[in-house]
Amino acid sequence: MNIKVIESKNKKKKPENMDVEFGSIFTDHMFIMDYEEGKGWINPRIEEYKNFEISPAALIFHYGQSMFEGMKAYKTENGKIYLFRPQKNIERANNSNKRLCIPEINEEDFLKAIIELVKIDEDWIPKQKDSSLYIRPFVIATEPSLNVKPSSKFKFIIILSPVGAYYKEGLNPVKIWVEDEYVRAVRGGIGAAKTGGNYAASMLSQEKAHKAGFSQVLWLDAIEHKYIEEVGAMNIFFKINGKIVTPMLNGSILPGVTRASVIELCKSWNMEIEERRVSCEEIHKAAKDGTLEEVFGSGTAAVISPVGTLKFGEEIYEINNGKIGEVSQKIYDTITGIQTGKIEDKFNWIVEVK
Ligand code: COI
Repeated sequence: MNIKVIESKNKKKKPENMDVEFGSIFTDHMFIMDYEEGKGWINPRIEEYKNFEISPAALIFHYGQSMFEGMKAYKTENGKIYLFRPQKNIERANNSNKRLCIPEINEEDFLKAIIELVKIDEDWIPKQKDSSLYIRPFVIATEPSLNVKPSSKFKFIIILSPVGAYYKEGLNPVKIWVEDEYVRAVRGGIGAAKTGGNYAASMLSQEKAHKAGFSQVLWLDAIEHKYIEEVGAMNIFFKINGKIVTPMLNGSILPGVTRASVIELCKSWNMEIEERRVSCEEIHKAAKDGTLEEVFGSGTAAVISPVGTLKFGEEIYEINNGKIGEVSQKIYDTITGIQTGKIEDKFNWIVEVK
């Protein structure tokens, strides 16, 4: 793939600190490529980050045919630029594409597009602790049509945003509300795909939780409301009596790249870790008998986010006295250490941009 590069003449001022809302600042450039039925993915280009024209009838606006991903680039102390397991995100992107009837994107081209874009905007990678350059690739359906059908035209776009911590709490434990009224996704639906509809479905509950002083909601399974699924922007882990447990991938949970990394790390430390159904009853019991030692979420944006409070119906449980647990801290330190080149990458997770 030959990417045409048109450098922006309107370079923007970079932020002095990362004390801004997650994903609210964008760099100077973006990558765009178009899809047309019969031609495939065409016209790969890097150009100025700016608004673009799209028909009001584009299918994305009406039926939501879209896919997105999230990954991060880091600058190491000796000036190298690292990506964390981008191939896993690319593989997941194409799985989402398949589920949403979006044409797949060649994996090498996808990675090349990210690398070339990050290189051109490398001065935007923040150097402050716990900050990085968030990479948001996405596809939207652009054919003008009100007919409910897969689009024959798409745009694949990558934008970049310098970010600090996802939650205002940073690495301090967050408060999570267990949602027992609405559901996020059901097996056979689109829960395992990274697509806007899943997030649109989550907003009403998130608003309810925010108003009550909680950061996010923890979803239960859509059929019985008995089993734990995932948190709004993260997968979830529990440490019960020394053992780590996390809901298994069942078709309605997002297969997180950080989730997979947490599991591989724990296994490499010979920790007991189980991927299985986790019932609410088990969590209530562990919280009551004192064996619920730690709870934490994992995600690209949040990395590792300890949970200090769980509101479960009428019960409110404080986990580990509202403090970050030892295992959560160790996983956070190791993953961020590998991502920023401070810890040796024994797993081959890093892809060097330069
Ligand atoms: C991510 O962790 O990258 C996500 O996509 C979560 C959220 C920001 C939507």
